Amino acid sequence: METEKTDFLIIGSGVAGLRAAVELASCGEVLVVTKDVLRESSTEYAQGGVAVAMSDEDRVGIHFEDTLKAGDGLCREDAVKVLVEEGAERILELIEWGAEFDRAGTKLDFTLEAAHSRRRVLHAHGDSTGREIERVLINKVVSLEGVRRFPFAMTVDLVMEDGVCCGAYILKEGRIYRVLARATVLATGGGGQIFSRTTNPPVTTSDGMAIALRAGAVMEDMEFVQFHPTVLFAPAAPQFLLSEAMRGEGGILRNIYGEPFMKNYHPDAELAPRDVVSRAIISEMVRTGSMYVYLDLTHLDAGFIKNRFPRIYRTCLQYDIDITRDRIPVSPAAHYMMGGVRTDTMGRTSVKGLYAAGEVACTGVHGANRLASNSLLEGLVFGARAGRAAGESAPDMTEPAVSAEEPFSDYGRVEDYEEVRTRLRRVMWDRVGIIRCADSLGAAREELSSFMHLLGHQYRTREELELKNMIQTAVVVTEAAIQRRCSLGAHYRSDFPQKEGCHYHIEWRMESGGNLVSHRR
Ligand code: SIN
Repeated sequence: METEKTDFLIIGSGVAGLRAAVELASCGEVLVVTKDVLRESSTEYAQGGVAVAMSDEDRVGIHFEDTLKAGDGLCREDAVKVLVEEGAERILELIEWGAEFDRAGTKLDFTLEAAHSRRRVLHAHGDSTGREIERVLINKVVSLEGVRRFPFAMTVDLVMEDGVCCGAYILKEGRIYRVLARATVLATGGGGQIFSRTTNPPVTTSDGMAIALRAGAVMEDMEFVQFHPTVLFAPAAPQFLLSEAMRGEGGILRNIYGEPFMKNYHPDAELAPRDVVSRAIISEMVRTGSMYVYLDLTHLDAGFIKNRFPRIYRTCLQYDIDITRDRIPVSPAAHYMMGGVRTDTMGRTSVKGLYAAGEVACTGVHGANRLASNSLLEGLVFGARAGRAAGESAPDMTEPAVSAEEPFSDYGRVEDYEEVRTRLRRVMWDRVGIIRCADSLGAAREELSSFMHLLGHQYRTREELELKNMIQTAVVVTEAAIQRRCSLGAHYRSDFPQKEGCHYHIEWRMESGGNLVSHRR
């Protein structure tokens, strides 16, 4: 097996990974490993924007309060404080590097999204905010000497020596490389693909979560999965996100009879928290016997819609939906995982030498439900912080005693790969989705147990490695949802709807034999 050495290894190339790379470039040699092309990450598809308290009417204290309220009492206040206080600095720096956020005249233009009490969401090219941020960060990273890129390279596992992370085993073009590093930053994003309906791109297979779990890292709050209420539901169309900003600009939800219904569920109607809107949509779908509801913008000016949501307008038109004239069929889909690898406010995980930032991490910033558009900001702020911490504290590299011999012996094949993947995603959507109960979760546990034999092997293809990661993460999400017998934020149990007594975190760790152990904090 070939060994590569670098000072700092970054796994993942979305906003958090690239921002960490920028920070680390001045501390030593950096290697950014990503399993596809550099820009293929959730960041690239983020539409609505990036929340930051920079408008004349806003204050960091108000952003702080809105974030805590959305998090339903489970946010870590120190992390939220860091997010809102450092946000403006990270955004101004991006603008200096060339980011073009939309403006109203000469001033930055801020839109409104659910659960924000102020207009505070910056956007770029209407509805391509993530793409603009990714563009700027890639340009920046490419301009930095000492940052190498390793695309189409799948991380198999971390290199561990006496409980310390010393790098990772990487699969590229059928060969496994041992990449040794003084510090490793996980920035692999989330795991929306474990659900059959998701807004996330195909690369989001929860790799970082499963890799960290196998290395003994502590995971936290895994049951909290945010479902986005408005995702395109049309024959042959992809599960395409219809930004919350469309409701922020006046879009109305109607059932299939054309009746607006959100006022019946929450005083904030279309701008109620996402979990409330998603459950209201499901109720209306059940009540009317339909697979979808409508998002209606037809009362808004057509020119404004085309200008404000150009990407959404063009995409829907490809599927014969003119959003200036037609109501758009929508239903919810999995969107964001609030839980992940537990970190402190500097991105340090429970494993020495291992840092995490972005959706793969659980800083506690999102609590039980993420405030819309806080995640790009989280990637910027905590990506920079994880980079700084890794750069400052990484010891000089001492060659680990880990042998350079191939460490994996038991290679397997998943013969019925497509079938297992489809079944896994379906059971998670049907049984561990928006509304959960003991019966549905028990059925999910039973179905997942039939995949356990696949975890005992190592694999040589990206697809099989992804599937292994998805199974492992799905099991933790399901077990966490079974354990939390109450409802908070995005975790809703129809058999335990009460919030009382629900304000605790559940940590998960995998013991060396593969057993999962949990701990309530
Ligand atoms: C959206 O545009 O609705 C998504 C934004 C987010 O999830 O933060």
